[in-house]
Amino acid sequence: MKRLSDNICNEIGRLPDHVVYGSVSSIVGMLIEIEGAESALTIGDRCRLIGREGREVVCEVVGFRNNSAQLMPFGSLDGIGLGCRAELSLSNPVIFPDDSWKGRVINAFGEPVDGKGPLQSGPVAYRVHARPPNSHSRQRVGGKLDLGVRALNTFLTCCKGQRMGIFSGSGVGKSTVMSMMARNTDAEVSVIGLIGERGRETREFIEDDLGDEGMARSVVIVATSDEPPLMRRQAAYVTMAVSEYFRDQGAEVLCLMDSVTRFAMAQREISLSAGEPPASKGYTPSVFAELPRLLERAGPGAPGEGSITGLFTVLVEGDDHNEPVADAVRGILDGHVVLDRAIAERGRYPAINILRSVSRTMPDCNTDEENEVVSRARKLLATYEDMAELIRLGAYRRGSDAGIDEAIHYYPAIEEFLAQTIDQQTSLEACYERLREILDMTPGELQDQTSPPPAAPGPAPEQGFAPPGAGPAPATPGEPTLSPDTLSQLNSLNGS
Ligand SMILES: Nc1ncnc2c1ncn2[C@@H]1O[C@H](COP(=O)(O)OP(=O)(O)OP(=O)(O)O)[C@@H](O)[C@H]1O
Ligand SMILES: [Mg+2]
Repeated sequence: MKRLSDNICNEIGRLPDHVVYGSVSSIVGMLIEIEGAESALTIGDRCRLIGREGREVVCEVVGFRNNSAQLMPFGSLDGIGLGCRAELSLSNPVIFPDDSWKGRVINAFGEPVDGKGPLQSGPVAYRVHARPPNSHSRQRVGGKLDLGVRALNTFLTCCKGQRMGIFSGSGVGKSTVMSMMARNTDAEVSVIGLIGERGRETREFIEDDLGDEGMARSVVIVATSDEPPLMRRQAAYVTMAVSEYFRDQGAEVLCLMDSVTRFAMAQREISLSAGEPPASKGYTPSVFAELPRLLERAGPGAPGEGSITGLFTVLVEGDDHNEPVADAVRGILDGHVVLDRAIAERGRYPAINILRSVSRTMPDCNTDEENEVVSRARKLLATYEDMAELIRLGAYRRGSDAGIDEAIHYYPAIEEFLAQTIDQQTSLEACYERLREILDMTPGELQDQTSPPPAAPGPAPEQGFAPPGAGPAPATPGEPTLSPDTLSQLNSLNGS
């Protein structure tokens, strides 16, 4: 009862003291023009169109042209025609988040969609289109955040208040990595925006991936791919507004958004409809203006507040990591996690390509010892990847280069460490401990960086790294040795 009366009081408080209205003068596709109220409207205002049979359609002002305001609807335009009344219903749309929203699923208007009854409104209004806080009023990023995914915890450690992107082509595992983080993280609150994804995935994500335990500390905001672009865009803004509420309560918030690309696509649809010319791959300049405004809202709060750690998935079209949205998002965020189709194809999940991924806060948040473990593992991976083709072909002869032999020895164990099933969880400390054990490094002891790499442990030269029957090849110091067969093939290719 109290909830109901509080909600009614809040609603009454928001009622305007006068009504501004105009009428529909044109409808082209999803773009409606209204006349008569343009001088009272501003971009982002919300209007209500009243159809012939009393049906109401909520719209947002997206532009102005030739003395009329351009609106786009949040729903279907059935029943709306020329001359229909358009009322200004809300300047600066707001939501009233509350602690009791944890465990609930809401839509882009902040309304419940989980069938669990009405939501309690909080006392403070949060603007849906809020501006990011001033950079100088923010704290610096905090300590490490346990994301529960081994590869991220060790190689791409994320700090509280950091913003990271998860980049990959379609179907490489972005949503799965995100769900692993949502379930395994030690953040106090997770705010999860499912923007423009498939309707099927939403229910699976909530019931299977998050589970009851994850859901109890999460708020999920959903706008599926079939919803109008305004709903999809607004769901992303509402995700940030709810995160800001919990941050202001002093909580360490993990904000997960799947996906930023769908947000960019929604903005592209809106701005193209409003007549904005496309700039790059059909994306309009306003897409690239909106992206930092959205993503910068995540990050550390002011002193005394909590922080919003942001993890945003980015779909890279055609596996081209330089496509415009991926490029723009990579430039805004503090780190990027690249998922690689080739790694997924050989069955190692999560398919994180460690060598192409970066966490920009990482070296500073680790101890020297942790940095050393990670940089050694990275070096071993890099050495192996450089030679991978030759090793697989059997063209590299073991014993020719101590560094490569060492990489070959440790590579399978590092790969096994990086693989993680959806329901496994390892804590941050345990991750480093395990990696150190794998690399045979002693805890508490820094290795001398200048000393030569240790002699390759493991068995004596094996068949399989050299073609059977190949004689000993002359070794040049510092260079891997190729077998005579391979050398002759390469020479014949070069025409020598
Ligand atoms: N950790 C994992 N373990 C096992 N299989 C996985 C894992 N991660 C992803 N997969 C496989 O990859 C498939 C696609 O994963 P997912 O839906 O997360 O990809 P996505 O990148 O989000 O795709 P889209 O771009 O289409 O949204 C899953 O259905 C599953 O078969
Ligand atoms: Mg997905």
